Amino acid sequence: MPRLDQRLKLVARQIRARCHADIGSDHGHLLKALLAAGRIERGIAIENKRQPWANSQATLRGLPADVRFGEGLQPLRPGEADSASICGMGGRSIERILGEAPERIPERLVLQPNKHAEQLRRWAFAAGYHLQEELRTAGRRRFDVLVFVRGDGHPDPVYDSLDREAALVFGPWHLRRWETWFVQQLQQQQRYLATLGGRDAVAGQRLAILDRLLAAREKHPQKNFAQTPPRRYFEK
Ligand SMILES: C[S@@+](CC[C@H](N)C(=O)[O-])C[C@H]1O[C@@H](n2cnc3c(N)ncnc32)[C@H](O)[C@@H]1O
Repeated sequence: MPRLDQRLKLVARQIRARCHADIGSDHGHLLKALLAAGRIERGIAIENKRQPWANSQATLRGLPADVRFGEGLQPLRPGEADSASICGMGGRSIERILGEAPERIPERLVLQPNKHAEQLRRWAFAAGYHLQEELRTAGRRRFDVLVFVRGDGHPDPVYDSLDREAALVFGPWHLRRWETWFVQQLQQQQRYLATLGGRDAVAGQRLAILDRLLAAREKHPQKNFAQTPPRRYFEK
């Protein structure tokens, strides 16, 4: 049985589906582990490079899984999978894959960008997908795992009553939970940007958001955002 690293373990824990597609399956380990754990009934591995495609085939041989060669979501028929994952790529590549085949995106998505998670939050907000959960792995290199579900036509309620721009940049669930590691990370970024010579407009904007967030927190340290979840989110 393939042993998943912490990053893929966290991804796997967010997946439970009848049919799950893993785009950029590489070695095929994620699908094999999901099948072995009974978290999915059927898997579809998609690869656009020969060697990883062959590796996925070898890993998944004899299991209820298809291994398809092709670009992103193109080898998937609309409605065929009820969930998909795209992991281990940059947020911009993931956004491109989603943008190229919007009609093939399943109801539920588990995305693990190596960077630019903000890009995916912005994509989802515009595309009508709701951020159901966002997590970060522990350890020296932290990876984001974002879980999206197709929305009901209303704006994503997780952003209700939050500073929208700050939430898109740093994550609405992280802002609501305001955990120690998250605050420390914001403070670290604030210190870094404040001392950065020749800040460009993006860095300047980010610093302004950090100043705003951390000042508000200092003013109301007792406010626990986790106790004020967006109501509509839980009514569904
Ligand atoms: C860095 S690896 C990550 C593998 C695995 N998903 C993980 O997280 O460990 C990225 C994999 O995605 C594949 N890939 C990249 N772009 C792709 C695309 N547009 N369509 C299908 N596969 C793609 C690459 O060939 C590579 O095997």
